[in-house]
Amino acid sequence: MQKHYWITTYGCQMNVHESEKIAGILRARGYAQADAEEEADIIVFNTCCIRENAENHAYGNIGALKKLKKAKPEMLIAVGGCMTQQAGAAEKLRKKFPFVDIVFGTHNLSVLGELIDRKLGTKKAVVDVWEKEGEADTEDISFRTSYPNAWVNIMYGCNNFCSYCIVPYVRGRERSRESGAILREVNGLLDQGYKEITLLGQNVNSYGNDRGDCTFWQLLNEICKRKEKFRLRFMTSNPKDFGEGLVRAIAENDQVCDLVHLPVQAGSDRILKLMNRKYTAKEYLEKVELLRKYVPDCRLTTDIMVGFPTETEEDFQATLSLVKEARFSTAFTFVYSRRSGTVAAGMEGQIPEEVQKDRIMRLVELVNAQTREFSAGYLGKTTEILCEDFDKKRGLYLGRDEYGRMGYFASERDRIGEFVRLKVTKVAGISLEGEICEDTEEEKEG
Ligand code: SAH
Ligand code: SF4
Ligand code: F3S
Repeated sequence: MQKHYWITTYGCQMNVHESEKIAGILRARGYAQADAEEEADIIVFNTCCIRENAENHAYGNIGALKKLKKAKPEMLIAVGGCMTQQAGAAEKLRKKFPFVDIVFGTHNLSVLGELIDRKLGTKKAVVDVWEKEGEADTEDISFRTSYPNAWVNIMYGCNNFCSYCIVPYVRGRERSRESGAILREVNGLLDQGYKEITLLGQNVNSYGNDRGDCTFWQLLNEICKRKEKFRLRFMTSNPKDFGEGLVRAIAENDQVCDLVHLPVQAGSDRILKLMNRKYTAKEYLEKVELLRKYVPDCRLTTDIMVGFPTETEEDFQATLSLVKEARFSTAFTFVYSRRSGTVAAGMEGQIPEEVQKDRIMRLVELVNAQTREFSAGYLGKTTEILCEDFDKKRGLYLGRDEYGRMGYFASERDRIGEFVRLKVTKVAGISLEGEICEDTEEEKEG
């Protein structure tokens, strides 16, 4: 009888892509995707621990399975991802939820299939979380469902140890994949008709530092030797290593989107120093200027955190000023969350919740106003959308433009995977609505 799987993912794009790898492993074992969680023979949670609420979310959803597991004891429950990789987390999880069958980590995701076999041969739970990072795997085992977009890992881990961040502890040190393997994967995806490739790493600018034969911008140039139309994106860039080589690669290659996600975190030099970010607000703004000099139309997005230990109103005001000066088109905003084991967790001067809440509200208000202003600039103009889905509820196709703005439009026929020119007739919040205003590239060529 056909067996089915269900995967629940939390966290960043890296995790979303790793869930595609988990799906690949399960499919190779004969499982097919279930239509609903209750119908699955195996449920996998791919967890995140970047902030406390991400963990609570996963704990809540795992706990909610107790009843289902009782009614269906042969169903397997597996928990993996960043959360299980923290010191003591696997034990805590097993204690809290004794019905969990398999616990695995970020470093041994590729052996999930073997862990399932081990579990099927025993009544006991299988807990296997590796402390040490494995080799950067070069084999693409993903089962992708994101056409026309595809994610490609170029490196794993992080060496930066920003003082608030758990990632270096749960993802290990930086390991870059061999450039030849990345090129083979990207070329294979383009051959299959994928139209947008996003290169993933915690700090893509330091790609290759551990190998010494290819830098990040060289990798971009290599990929862009393919001359057909496609979009190339990457995330995330750490400002400390963001420089001219990369800026030139963005300017010189049409395929590289004119959009950079450059997390700033804070606008106060004192806080940036405590965060161990290794740049000042002025240095950050100089990099933004360099980017705009080479790529005048480039859009900039960022991550910002409020309520870091000892942050004063004055520090927070510095963040607000930087947001205005850098002219971000969108920003992801977070309240600092104390992560056990990090340097900041042990700092004096943790900020009370009411103060954090007040600051995040003021920050979000400013960011939203800037985002709306950017969106309003689209009205009556045309922009090119890569159509990626059909929204059944609205009866409209949707996709994003080069700058990441979502656009909706009506079409008589399926447009998924096509570049479409859209005349923007309506702006709602951060998304756009419009009409197709000229033939697609494919039709023009045909
Ligand atoms: N490697 C990326 C960031 C990955 S985490 C970079 O350095 O830019 C994504 C975002 O989560 C971070 O940019 C930061 O803003 C936020 N973040 C990380 N740790 C956090 C914490 N302890 N509390 C709140 N937000 C956090
Ligand atoms: Fe975390 Fe800093 Fe590494 Fe980003 S660069 S993953 S914020 S430690
Ligand atoms: Fe979360 Fe791990 Fe990504 S902690 S943000 S899933 S690297």
